[in-house]
Amino acid sequence: MAASDPARTPFSTLIRTASHEQHTEAESTSFMADLLGGRLGVDAYRRYTEQLWFLYTALEEAAGPLADNPVAGPFIRTGLFRLPALERDLDHLHGRSGWRTEIRPLPATRAYAARVSQVARDWPGGYVAHHYTRYLGDLSGGQIIRGKAERTWGFTRKGDGVRFYVFEQIGNPAAFKRDYRERLDELAADDLEKQRVVDECKRAFALNTAVFRELGEQFPLSA
Ligand code: HEM
Repeated sequence: MAASDPARTPFSTLIRTASHEQHTEAESTSFMADLLGGRLGVDAYRRYTEQLWFLYTALEEAAGPLADNPVAGPFIRTGLFRLPALERDLDHLHGRSGWRTEIRPLPATRAYAARVSQVARDWPGGYVAHHYTRYLGDLSGGQIIRGKAERTWGFTRKGDGVRFYVFEQIGNPAAFKRDYRERLDELAADDLEKQRVVDECKRAFALNTAVFRELGEQFPLSA
């Protein structure tokens, strides 16, 4: 069957299958499990959202300059941009708007954002790996996190606090993901470059896991 022949497997399938193990690892960190289990306070969720702000600043500052790039350009859609939503969430989570000068990235977040900025400058295929890992994840499992956050901390459904997970400009997420996978399948890259992109995707997952681990150290469960 095609899946056993990497050269003939659609790239969207290849990247999803190849990162499956890292996905499970990120999902099963104690921080994520505790967050989804409703066992963390809103302060942990706020700290996590702050980390996302640093990361999406790096991702989205790079998007403009890459919009016309033949490799990365096809993935860039302003409708995906999360920074305005994150900023509204953080205004809400801090109860005021002065948080920008007060929040700090964790070391793992700094390393993750630095890697994103580096590939954005030097390697468009690497940027695609990070773009895929975040935005397709936010459109998928992110929806589970939103529902849990609404129930645990009482945010208005799809309102302040969880706007990061609400893609207002993407009417049909399932169709969007199908279209995104088609763009992955048409990635302007040879097999060797595709393998490098897959490896970078695994690295992106590992960078996420590292952030969760540091968050887990900051918010250990007493129970
Ligand atoms: C507890 C946390 C998580 C849950 C519950 C979760 C759950 C899911 C689910 C249900 C899907 C849909 C699979 C499908 O459509 O076949 C998915 C896809 C995805 N997730 Fe997660 N996920 C979590 C964490 C993460 C993290 C931390 C990342 C990386 C930053 C991530 C990245 C992705 C990506 C890239 C996809 C798309 C796979 C594809 O269709 O190509 N997820 N996730």
